[in-house]
Amino acid sequence: MEHFAATIIHWQKQHGRHDLPWQLTRDPYARWVSEVMLQQTQVVHVIPYYLRFMERFPTVTALTGAPLEEVLKVWAGLGYYARARHLYRAAQWVCTHHQGCVPTDPAHLLRLPGIGRSTAAAIATFCGETPHAILDGNVKRLLTRVFAITGVPSSSAVQRQLWQLAERLLPPQDGAVYIQGLMDLGATLCTARRPLCVDCPLQSICQAHQLGQQDYFPTARPRRKLAQKSTRMLLLRTPDGRFLVEKRPSSGLWGGLWCFPQLDPILDPLQQAREKWGLFTREVERLATLRHTFTHFHLDIEPHLLQVDLAHSLPISCTDDKNWFTLRQLQREATPVAVRKLVRLLQSHPA
Ligand code: ADE
Repeated sequence: MEHFAATIIHWQKQHGRHDLPWQLTRDPYARWVSEVMLQQTQVVHVIPYYLRFMERFPTVTALTGAPLEEVLKVWAGLGYYARARHLYRAAQWVCTHHQGCVPTDPAHLLRLPGIGRSTAAAIATFCGETPHAILDGNVKRLLTRVFAITGVPSSSAVQRQLWQLAERLLPPQDGAVYIQGLMDLGATLCTARRPLCVDCPLQSICQAHQLGQQDYFPTARPRRKLAQKSTRMLLLRTPDGRFLVEKRPSSGLWGGLWCFPQLDPILDPLQQAREKWGLFTREVERLATLRHTFTHFHLDIEPHLLQVDLAHSLPISCTDDKNWFTLRQLQREATPVAVRKLVRLLQSHPA
């Protein structure tokens, strides 16, 4: 056990990452923002977003003082917007219950929305006095390989086994270096596909490597067939290149994000534009169907590009939840990934 931690600590000091922007601080707020951004997102994608976010909202008070709308806008493009909404709500909690100081004790951190056991442990280790075991996706992969742990990691039995192991492996000293080392090894060498075992300091003790079975760990979750749903989207374009978007209700799929209007699949798109917004249009093109996959289903989006005839339509208007944006403006707004894909498609599309 001590050998495992000592090997990782030694490797991290020599080969790990030391100049990621959030590593330059022990400010719990900054480390919290970075850990939340790093959930489900790779370091290279996070860096520019983290820098922009910290510049715009350098403190908890700066964050709570801004409207959620603006926070989502700075988050735009990073995806999984629920993280930004949780961060914002949690910041308000921190202001009310912790006088604006982000706690560094895992028990307090765990009460904040959007912070699970591993994220709480990472923030506490990087900013507090005592180290805590972490277990994110990368660490799960690494531990299941080194100790040849079979079974789907998300099952509660394997989850329990992995947490116990992670706790037992935690060294009494250099906890922050150790945890950073686990993260670095998982992200750079012990990768999901084609792990770089030749460079790995754990090679001689790694059971999956000895068995030549790195690819079989962690045990793959049985693939279930995802449900398939369809929707039509109206891309209503004015002659000067603005598109109608609506803000989705704050809860539910794509909550609070700007989206192209979705259509009743039975109705004729032109008729719908006329009845709903008083817009006379002509169909320019039915673009290729776009598949977007969520955790539980595939969504096939059928986009209809329609040109608005301003001379015969009601004047176009904007409200809090209805707007006309150019493609360039849409790129800067908080929109779901599926809408971003359509925006990119439209950018390369002849006018
Ligand atoms: N992934 C999750 N947390 C991280 C961190 N602090 N540094 C690098 N990668 C990470």
